[in-house]
Amino acid sequence: APDIDVAAVKADLTRLQSIADENGGNRAHGQPGYQASIDYIKAKLDAAGFTTSVQEFERGGATGYNLIADWPGGSADQVVMAGSHLDSVEAGPGINDNGSGSASILEVALAVADSDLKPTKHLRFAWWGDEEDGMVGSSHYVDGLDDDEVSKIDSYLNFDMVGSPNPGYFVYDDDPRLEKVFTDWFAAKDIATEPETEGDGRSDHAPFKDRGVPVGGLFSGADYIKTEEQAGNWGGTAGQAFDACYHRSCDTVENIDDTALDRNTDAIAYALWQLSS
Ligand code: PHE
Ligand code: CA
Ligand code: ZN
Ligand code: ZN
Ligand code: ZN
Repeated sequence: APDIDVAAVKADLTRLQSIADENGGNRAHGQPGYQASIDYIKAKLDAAGFTTSVQEFERGGATGYNLIADWPGGSADQVVMAGSHLDSVEAGPGINDNGSGSASILEVALAVADSDLKPTKHLRFAWWGDEEDGMVGSSHYVDGLDDDEVSKIDSYLNFDMVGSPNPGYFVYDDDPRLEKVFTDWFAAKDIATEPETEGDGRSDHAPFKDRGVPVGGLFSGADYIKTEEQAGNWGGTAGQAFDACYHRSCDTVENIDDTALDRNTDAIAYALWQLSS
C-alpha cells in the first residue's frame, strides 16, 4: 500500500475549514456548509474516475445526503467498504470530528485511483450525512439494503475522529480479522494500540454491525481523559481529554495532531489494500 502524503489530507482539512468559515461556521446537517462539503469531495472523486452517487434522506425538516463512491471492478459479491461521517455539529467546523476521517478516506480513495488498483474485491467509499443526530445517514443507507445486499458486504471500516490533538491509537475490537489488520500495521511501527471502547455503538459502523456485517475502524479519542499510562505510551498530556474541542467551536484546523492523522491515514490505506486484494 502507498504511504499517503499527510499534506494532502491537511489541504482537504483546510478546504473544509474554509467551507465552514464561508457558511456560518459549521458543516452541519441541513446547513449550506454540509452541501458544500459534499460538492468538494464528490468533485475530486469524479475527476479520479470513481462512480459516485448521492443518496438523499429527510431529517428534521431538512434533506440530508450520503455520498457513495465505487471504484470500478472487483467482485460485486465481496464489497469492502470504508466510511466516515462528513457532517459537523452546529457548534463548529468539525475538523477532527469528522473532517479527519472524511479527508483520510478521500486521500486513500484518490491513492486507489492513482495506483490504478485492481482489487479482487469491490471497493466502496461512503461519506455519511447527519451522523450527529444519531447515525441518520448511515442508518438510512443500511435500511435500504436487502439481506442479500448486506451479505455481500465483506467488511465495513469506520473512521470517525482520527486526528485528535492529544491522540490515542484505538482499534475497533468488534471483529478479530479486521482488528488484526490494523494492529499488525501499528505493531510493525512499534506504536502501541488499545481496543476501542469509547465509541461502541456511537458511530456509523453500528447500523452495519446490527445487520451482521463485520466492522472495524480506528479512533484517536474524543472527550475521555488520557491516563498517565496512555501518555507514557503515546506522548501527549495525561489528565486532559484526547480532544478537548470535541463538539466545540474550537474543533478547527488547529485541533489536529499531524502525526496521528498521518499514521491513521497510512494504516487505512494498508488495511484497504490488504482486505480488498
Ligand atoms: N460518534 C461520535 C461523534 O461523532 C464520536 C465518536 C466516535 C465517539 C467513536 C466515540 C467513538 O460525536
Ligand atoms: Ca503518510
Ligand atoms: Zn433513500
Ligand atoms: Zn460528533
Ligand atoms: Zn463523529
